Amino acid sequence: MTIWLPDREHLTRPVYLSLAQQIARAIESGDLKPGQRLPTHRALADQLHISVQTVSRAYDELIRKGLVAGQVGRGTYVCEVMGEPEPPFIRERPDELIDLSMLRPVAGDIHRERMQTALIDLAPRIAGRLLHSFRPDVVLRPHKQAAVDWLKRCGVQARADNIQIVNGATPAMTLAIMTALRPGETLATEVIGHHTLVALARYLGVNLVGLPIDNEGVLPDGFEASCREHRVKALFLVPSVANPTVSVMGLARRLEIIDIARKHDVAIIENEAWGPLVKDTPPAFAALSPERAYYLTSFTKCVAPALRIGYLVSPEHVVASAANRHLVTNWIATPIMSALASQWVSDGTAWELVRWQRRALRARFEMAHECLRGVDFRSHPESLHIWLKLPASWREEEFVAHCRLRGVAVAPGASFVTTPAHTAGGIRVCIGAGEAREIRRGLEIIASILSGAPEPALLTI
Ligand SMILES: Cc1ncc(COP(=O)(O)O)c(C=O)c1O
Repeated sequence: MTIWLPDREHLTRPVYLSLAQQIARAIESGDLKPGQRLPTHRALADQLHISVQTVSRAYDELIRKGLVAGQVGRGTYVCEVMGEPEPPFIRERPDELIDLSMLRPVAGDIHRERMQTALIDLAPRIAGRLLHSFRPDVVLRPHKQAAVDWLKRCGVQARADNIQIVNGATPAMTLAIMTALRPGETLATEVIGHHTLVALARYLGVNLVGLPIDNEGVLPDGFEASCREHRVKALFLVPSVANPTVSVMGLARRLEIIDIARKHDVAIIENEAWGPLVKDTPPAFAALSPERAYYLTSFTKCVAPALRIGYLVSPEHVVASAANRHLVTNWIATPIMSALASQWVSDGTAWELVRWQRRALRARFEMAHECLRGVDFRSHPESLHIWLKLPASWREEEFVAHCRLRGVAVAPGASFVTTPAHTAGGIRVCIGAGEAREIRRGLEIIASILSGAPEPALLTI
């Protein structure tokens, strides 16, 4: 069978990346099929008149992306096509299940009451421009001051014209990545990080590299090594209570990361999805290094999931690019919701609900420590989740299966891994969503499973 071969004429510099991209495109288009063997390094180098090292680097790049696999003695094979990623949370919640798999803030009567009052207050004030205009400037200009004020609470001084008002942190992530990187460029991030980033990078054609982490997040040495090896263009971080590992990056570490980013000219995308919920965090990257930091935040986790409004602040030299990308992907944040967010920022409701959420989360944090005595887990008093380190005797999927058998849904660490070969060795347990007694019961079940001996769960019976 004749196999598809890269075209020497279309190789550009750096040659290894361009070669890897050609092969990746051939896999995507089906010209190269799963299971097909690629030529040996030497054969392809001879064919294309390039060095064997260049072919090896290109193959390494494809292995890193999970597109091909190398087997000693058998050569390099195209992998089975990667399906759509599985979300960490369960898609449907059967009634009898305690669902600790999805990240949600604690809900109280106060949220419904405040929302009802706000909608009644807003109704007579809905202006024609809010209802009928398509012009972002006309609709959203009045809301920029509230955005400036809220960002100040987050420790970020932003010019009104440098704020994109967006429908939550998710579109802000897309905007920031599209602005900071072009397809084929490399984005570095925590090796265990936010689950949508893996798919997003793939959809945008951006290479994702997972960096080693410790209790404070990304390790400077790993970041610097990656800058050298992969020419990293941007670094994506959740620095204050990471999802899922709960790490908080201290000031000294932030400054080290900034030094390396400056040296290698890397942009920093700082995802503060919880907004000002986390108290006493070190200064934001956007405050320490505004010339290279993108800052994004949202109301969905710190105020209420229904308030799908967030803000993106970009380095000044790319403000126009960020605005353009916002226009073509979203056009404009939902006008009525933007008005509601501004109203809640200016009348103090948003801040009142953040303070309420902090108190509610602290109670859940204490409950987790009570129920999981003797268990190795990471937590934070203002976190919506905990990160449970599994003993080596437990495999993640087995632990998740045991929890499901006992009526509890949790998220496997594997859903958050950003580098294919890495094992997370942990479980994310959300403690925000649901009634307190339900969370307590779920945590007690988790503790009791951990106290028993691991054994495969016979789910198929
Ligand atoms: C780290 C992180 N970023 C972003 C998001 C999405 O936030 P939003 O609901 O505002 O789009 C989440 C949701 O769980 C998250 O955990």
